[in-house]
Amino acid sequence: MSLLRRLYSAVTGVVLIAIVGSFLASVIHPAVPVLNTGTVVVTGCSPGGLGFQIVKDILDSQPKEVLVLCTVRKDADSKALADEFKSDRLKSVLLDVTDAPAVKKFGEKLENTRIIGLVNNAGVSVHSKLESIDYRSTFEVNFFAVLEMVKTLLPHLRKAGPGSRIVNIGSMAGTFVRPGTIVYSSSKRALEAATDGMRVELAPDSISVSIVQPGFFRTKMCTAPQCGGGIEEVSEAVLHGLFASRPRTRYPVATIGAMSAFAGSKLAAALPDRLLDFAITVLKPKDVNPPKEKQ
Ligand SMILES: NC(=O)c1ccc[n+]([C@@H]2O[C@H](COP(=O)([O-])OP(=O)(O)OC[C@H]3O[C@@H](n4cnc5c(N)ncnc54)[C@H](OP(=O)(O)O)[C@@H]3O)[C@@H](O)[C@H]2O)c1
Repeated sequence: MSLLRRLYSAVTGVVLIAIVGSFLASVIHPAVPVLNTGTVVVTGCSPGGLGFQIVKDILDSQPKEVLVLCTVRKDADSKALADEFKSDRLKSVLLDVTDAPAVKKFGEKLENTRIIGLVNNAGVSVHSKLESIDYRSTFEVNFFAVLEMVKTLLPHLRKAGPGSRIVNIGSMAGTFVRPGTIVYSSSKRALEAATDGMRVELAPDSISVSIVQPGFFRTKMCTAPQCGGGIEEVSEAVLHGLFASRPRTRYPVATIGAMSAFAGSKLAAALPDRLLDFAITVLKPKDVNPPKEKQ
């Protein structure tokens, strides 16, 4: 067989696989209803962070029947949200997401509110050696609080009907575990597993569940020079998970150094562990969250 023919068969094969693959994917994953009347709950909306950006983008891009209910921890942040957006489509409440009784009360107060989406954005990042870290508090916010919020809001999301959404904010740190980030990375990897489980468990109710896995973007959590822009891109992924008719299961977005998170996630899946360890430890990528004090 001539080289040209072989090339032709290979290209035809790839195109056929792509066509059959996308047909099968659309049969297995039919379009999800798009709900555009009701309230989206976003946790952790203090100014300068991703939650704040998500609020802005929902208010800017969605119909006026889509409302936002934000959680913050300080009165000053509630006021900042009100001052910035001046919108009767936005409400904020004070809530520490790790306070389970308070989360329960929060859910009870939503009795007459149609909840169409939940964005679990609140998170903390710690950078420390394992021996000196308070590992439980990180998991309380990044993992257990997410389960608590989902458990609390699930009856409301079910009531809103097929098409309601959960979007969890994970991290590329759940894929690339650098020295000093064991606990943060573990909490985000646990969240990824929980998201995969929620997705299949809630599929019979047609509740869509996605995880956004950003690289680094500039907020008060990430302030080093290499925490680039990209917060808009991350927020765009969140809105896709909330409102697209075909939401993705995961959204690797923003960048890790010079590499896109998407490329990074594919590379991490393809590289043998030892090679990945080499890249992470021997090449010593610059820390974006250096320890605040010497450990
Ligand atoms: N920035 C990055 O490079 C990056 C990369 C990957 C993933 N992420 C993830 O993106 C999400 C948003 O982070 P960000 O970068 O926007 O940082 P951020 O500005 O520090 O936002 C974190 C938000 O979570 C809130 N929060 C923390 N603990 C809480 C608690 N116990 N109860 C309620 N709210 C709490 C914070 O409230 P206060 O303001 O009151 O502390 C803040 O509003 C996090 O889940 C983070 O892990 C960030």
